[in-house]
Amino acid sequence: MLQLGVNIDHVATLRQARRTVYPSLAEAAALCERAGAQGITIHLREDRRHIQDADVYALRRTLTTRMNLEMANHPDIVAVALDVRPEEVCMVPERRQELTTEGGLDVAGQRDALAPVVAALRAAGITVSLFIDPDARQVDAAAAIGAPTIELHTGAYAEHAGAAREQERARLADAAQRAHALGLTVNAGHGLSLENIDPILAIPHLDTLNIGHSIVCRALFVGIEQATREMLEKLQQRR
Ligand code: PXP
Repeated sequence: MLQLGVNIDHVATLRQARRTVYPSLAEAAALCERAGAQGITIHLREDRRHIQDADVYALRRTLTTRMNLEMANHPDIVAVALDVRPEEVCMVPERRQELTTEGGLDVAGQRDALAPVVAALRAAGITVSLFIDPDARQVDAAAAIGAPTIELHTGAYAEHAGAAREQERARLADAAQRAHALGLTVNAGHGLSLENIDPILAIPHLDTLNIGHSIVCRALFVGIEQATREMLEKLQQRR
């Protein structure tokens, strides 16, 4: 069954907008879990614009499902991951001024820098995923440096429409096939919503979709438990 990781970064964005103590990330995560989400995703950014270090430690104590910690290859953040030991780390590229993660990790170009970090995280018992564009070179490089999992960046798919979107979907499907043939677990995410997800569900070999912004936005109107449930119902149509 296709699994859902709910990214709750933007619950923290609301809190950081006023530097309040609410809304509670623990409560948000618990409601997602109660709805049936198989995991909770958070991104500890170098600029700490939403998730804070204390959130990572607190959620580690309260989550009843899996924690997927997204992070850049930065020594301070790698140290947090090795200390907290989430079930999964997803390594992403980061640029300070970006609105959100733009583009995938250049695994092929950064093999030497990434390989030892992947090895250290794996040695600590953490499943490592690399967030990459649907590109054969990047898929091959991820397998070559020993990452067991990739997450395919669906941002370009979500941004485009019509024939261009279909082209992106085909690239995602090809990358998923290739990764699966190499023995990798295939996740995907970024920019997915109830409106655009249907064609993604037809991509083979997908294990988990990580979805945040659209679920948190929908939660404004129906609550986060119901918003999560609606997305899970969509994912279940895949079977
Ligand atoms: N996967 C990764 C690696 C991401 O960086 C993000 C955004 O933080 C997501 C999934 C979720 O994207 P969205 O919030 O657009 O659903």
